Amino acid sequence: MKTIQSNIKKAIKYLDKNCSIGVPTETVYGLAANAYVDSAVKKIFKLKKRPKNNSLIVHYSDLNSLKKDCFVNDNFVKLYKKFSPGPITYILRLKKNSKISKYVTNNRKNLAVRFPKHKVFQKLLKQLNYPLAAPSANISTKVSAVQAKDVREEFGKKIEYILDGGKCSIGIESTIVSLVNKPTILRLGGLDVSKIQKTLGYKMHLNTNPKNKIAPGQSRLHYSPGIPLKMNVTEPKKGEAFILMKKRKYKLDNFYYLSTNNNLKQAAKNLYSCLRKIKKKGYKSISVEKVKNKGLGKTINDRLIRASHFKHT
Ligand code: TXA
Ligand code: MG
Repeated sequence: MKTIQSNIKKAIKYLDKNCSIGVPTETVYGLAANAYVDSAVKKIFKLKKRPKNNSLIVHYSDLNSLKKDCFVNDNFVKLYKKFSPGPITYILRLKKNSKISKYVTNNRKNLAVRFPKHKVFQKLLKQLNYPLAAPSANISTKVSAVQAKDVREEFGKKIEYILDGGKCSIGIESTIVSLVNKPTILRLGGLDVSKIQKTLGYKMHLNTNPKNKIAPGQSRLHYSPGIPLKMNVTEPKKGEAFILMKKRKYKLDNFYYLSTNNNLKQAAKNLYSCLRKIKKKGYKSISVEKVKNKGLGKTINDRLIRASHFKHT
């Protein structure tokens, strides 16, 4: 307990100096900086090699601080009451007098906001008098980070500090819902879309197409392990890494289990570390067993489809 608080103190010291640091969330690790300060936000883009037009999510500890920056509406209140804090991000209209740096949204008038559930991150946010802009803590287009050492692997000594909060419990990014006009899903994520639909009382439009210009982060090349990946494979080729969803009777060195009994929650949690592990082992390609396309399985398949758009760079 004591060490957590002293680590949070260290994190605050760096954030107050407008540094960008690694932070734990229940979804994936974030690369965080003061959302009110231009120079701090610019550092995030530079470190991630992220295009300027790919806006950032801002993380708040409570509703009152959010209301200083954004307008809320009835749909927001319904979803907030049910699912926040947790793996859901809302797109809301920015207020004219908001202090959010224009670099966060590339001058756009809509802001992505989230209330994280991770206890260490919540404690940190509560002790700050500004919200934190934080994209996933990985170099642009690469695999997201789900533990402190993954963040170090991505950025090395380029970042001063990583607040260690253990392994992320969900392991896959938040679901993004735009509430600016008609509610629309912009990214599949850790919260099942059907639960959101049930709460709002109607079927929602899904706009997760890579050509979608609203959330440019949904590009085709994303979550890339840097080697070719094939989906829905029953038997892999020789020398390939094979990602599995259920236990096989025999054991082989190239088997990597997301789950041993088709458990989608477990599979989501293991996905990114599994891709990292395989890449490090030096495999030249990956085959993945079919993942059922239901609930969280849809999110996993969304990530796998994007990861399969490998490009030599
Ligand atoms: O779980 C998560 O959401 C993690 C943790 C760290 O909170 N964050 C995360 O951030 O996944 P990032 O930057 O990797 O993905 C944010 C996505 C991008 O696809 C971006 O284009 C979209 O959100 N986005 C951000 N601001 C937006 C806005 N104002 N309107 C539409 N899309 C936006
Ligand atoms: Mg990301």
